[in-house]
Amino acid sequence: MAQRDVIQVLTHDHREVEEMFDELSEATDPDARRRIVNDITIELVRHSVAEEMYLYPAVRELVPGGDELADKEISEHAEVERILKELERADPAHDSFGTLVRRLIDDVSAHVREEEGEMFPRLADNAGSEELLALGKQVESAKRTAPTRPHPSAPDRPPLNKLLAPGTGLIDRVRDHLTGRGRD
Ligand SMILES: [Fe+2]
Repeated sequence: MAQRDVIQVLTHDHREVEEMFDELSEATDPDARRRIVNDITIELVRHSVAEEMYLYPAVRELVPGGDELADKEISEHAEVERILKELERADPAHDSFGTLVRRLIDDVSAHVREEEGEMFPRLADNAGSEELLALGKQVESAKRTAPTRPHPSAPDRPPLNKLLAPGTGLIDRVRDHLTGRGRD
């Protein structure tokens, strides 16, 4: 497949997450809801790490006012991360799980609208096509290396429960894992 630029890669991710949200909204069985939330968590963490490692630094460098944009998106990722951690502890058969799911969908949807409505167009205006393609490649490789499922077979990749351990920053932890920092 031809290399996709960073905006194509991340926009495609957003559509995938929205499909998973639809699946979650339709699921009624608690075990199914737990499984879908775990899948969404992994996808959102991989996506957020890739954005924080490559997209936001490029936005800071290339887009006028980019620091402000990047800071806002990073603080939104932190809020999403807090909801994901609460969901990990919540009982999928309980009402509070549904409340958290709605907060997650609202927050992520707003974040997606901001990125696609403002950040991506401004990046496209200020970066060359070569730069966008190179960033696309970096984002794809970061996503490939990030943990992909709760109990991965590769022993050097931490399981989801370790990534979600209390007191650790989920996104920070995955980023450290990718860059080889903080390795156990
Ligand atoms: Fe995004």
